[in-house]
Amino acid sequence: MAPARIVVLISGTGSNLAALLAAQQERECPFEIVGVIADRAASGLAHAQSAGVPTAVVRKGDHPDRAAWDEALAREVAALSPDLVVLAGFMKLIGPPLLESRPGRIINTHPALLPSFPGAHGVRDALAHGVKVSGASVIEVDPGVDTGRILAQRAVDVLPEDTEETLHERIKVVEREMLVDVVRELSRTLAS
Ligand code: GRF
Repeated sequence: MAPARIVVLISGTGSNLAALLAAQQERECPFEIVGVIADRAASGLAHAQSAGVPTAVVRKGDHPDRAAWDEALAREVAALSPDLVVLAGFMKLIGPPLLESRPGRIINTHPALLPSFPGAHGVRDALAHGVKVSGASVIEVDPGVDTGRILAQRAVDVLPEDTEETLHERIKVVEREMLVDVVRELSRTLAS
């Protein structure tokens, strides 16, 4: 069976991407990362480059408006013919051209237990609310902000001395494992 073709979208340091790239080295991995796309010069692109995976940067500022950027991103993804698109710390909403071209085939990882604390500051908001347990979620992407169907969740205890940084680092440990598990599982059902 051919491995599922995965495209990963990132904006940041790419530790989730690095975990997926590491998993790909394991025997009989059911997926292959065929491209990594960022919306900025993300430092995480280096993980892809050192693994020999093609990268591209599609900056919003290089396009006349949001709609043109949405189209450009959808084109860049389509050129890689993915079975699954994984948003791994991609800090932009996905517009209709990409979303509508791949129903149910775009997933996102989020550092909080959705539906609580959606949006760009999930860790900060959970901490500010005083929760004692937070965690990470992998969801199917829909037009809303972190509102899609929940595919997996893992919990992380919040410690009294936690800062946004310390909590986020502990969440990212379980988030990476969970994301790899979900991508493996989906890949087995998607690979042709
Ligand atoms: C992850 O916690 C992701 O859920 C959030 O930003 C972080 C990205 O981390 N949106 P990395 O770039 O994969 O290291």
